[in-house]
Amino acid sequence: MRALTPFFLLAACAFAAPPNFSQDIAPIFYERCVGCHRPNHVAPMSLLDYKSARPWAKAIADSVAKRRMPPWFADPKYGHWANDARLSDAEIAKVRAWVAAGAPEGNPKLLPAAPKFSEGWQLGEPDMVIDIGELYRVTPNEDAYEHFTVPLPLPKGAWIRAAELRPGNRKVVHHGHVLLVQENLAGMEVASTKNMPSLAQFLVREGKLSRIRMDAPSWNDACRADTPDLPFVRGSQEGALASYLPGKPPDVFPAGTAKWIPPNSKLEFVLHYANIKEANETDRSLVGLYFAKGEPEQTLRRMDLRNFFLDIAPGEPNQEVRRCYDFTEDKYLLSFTPHFHYRGKDATYELTLPDGSKEILLSVPRYDFNWQLVYRLREPKLVPKGSRLTVTVHYDNSANNKANPDSKQRLRWGDKSEEEMMTSWIEYLDVKK
Ligand code: HEC
Repeated sequence: MRALTPFFLLAACAFAAPPNFSQDIAPIFYERCVGCHRPNHVAPMSLLDYKSARPWAKAIADSVAKRRMPPWFADPKYGHWANDARLSDAEIAKVRAWVAAGAPEGNPKLLPAAPKFSEGWQLGEPDMVIDIGELYRVTPNEDAYEHFTVPLPLPKGAWIRAAELRPGNRKVVHHGHVLLVQENLAGMEVASTKNMPSLAQFLVREGKLSRIRMDAPSWNDACRADTPDLPFVRGSQEGALASYLPGKPPDVFPAGTAKWIPPNSKLEFVLHYANIKEANETDRSLVGLYFAKGEPEQTLRRMDLRNFFLDIAPGEPNQEVRRCYDFTEDKYLLSFTPHFHYRGKDATYELTLPDGSKEILLSVPRYDFNWQLVYRLREPKLVPKGSRLTVTVHYDNSANNKANPDSKQRLRWGDKSEEEMMTSWIEYLDVKK
């Protein structure tokens, strides 16, 4: 009998008055949308009030029905996520019923209090603030990915417990990351392993950006037994300090953990400036650092699991690229951030346990370069020594991929968005003995 309850409720709703903005829809928008959809933010319209939301009603129904909004790409069949943005089926049904009924306002006196947003530091005054070092002028009608590298005045290094990347101008900054880079390495680990003398010999620098030489060896399947040991970490390893995506809270590291900033590190800001029409927009984005009180119980670590040697032919609609990692110690995994460029199509993270059993940790069936989401596990995942993580990514370099800037290009690894990458940022903790 119990199994019938939801059906009964739905049926009951169908006969009730249609949902209205003030009582039924505003609470959903306040909780799920206005983190991005509010004035002077990167989303095209505010959903804070009826007047601003009403003209978008049809587009809203469509975008929630197709789950285009809120942006979230993990297949719900696998994993439980602390930051899962998906609307429930009931919320979607309510929004659609509201639009189908002509998007009525209801009684504005019944509107709940709108959430308050502080445009300042979310975590209070930081211990240190570093900005991109220049007033960046945004070119209208152009999507731009810009890199800014600035020195960090920390000659002794520091432990940090949180960091907040704050756009200087929220209208133009679509998203961004701040990474640590160490002196002379410019972000690249120069690995020397068993059968790969060094990655540096295959790298070419062009201004601030790096790429792999076209004649570097190709290994799309870096899980094969005969693959050379590929370097897997970058620069100071725990690389990323903070990222900004509209609506995402600042990066506060789990209790008892902190990240180490080695002496004389530099910060690299990677900022995506969204395509906007207005001329004369400028930006000076900044990051606030919050120091930890001394050494933490545990260092928050991150591995950047990459395959630098991908090689994708012009027009190729479905190139598979793999990268494996064999755990030589127990670890707790905390989060995954898949990172590819315009041709990235889908990604699967599969764990093979020492007994041979397999488990999919994360599946992203439809990757979208525009939304570089972090998937944070609700519970840390204990991975025993002897397990293997296999990351499998498919790339669509054909003209059918609407995001593809040039299907005639052969693709190798490169920092530029028009080149490709295969990186997964994976946060983890060591298991204390
Ligand atoms: C993480 C930020 C974010 C959240 C949360 C979000 N949006 Fe959006 N939305 C955007 C941005 C940015 C755009 C601009 C176009 C794009 O990038 O897709 C957009 C575009 C839209 C559009 C117009 C384009 C389309 O897809 O039809 C609609 C409608 C929309 N959002 C509705 C919603 C609703 C309703 C919610 C909540 C249920 C929501 N959004 C939550 C950021 C967000």
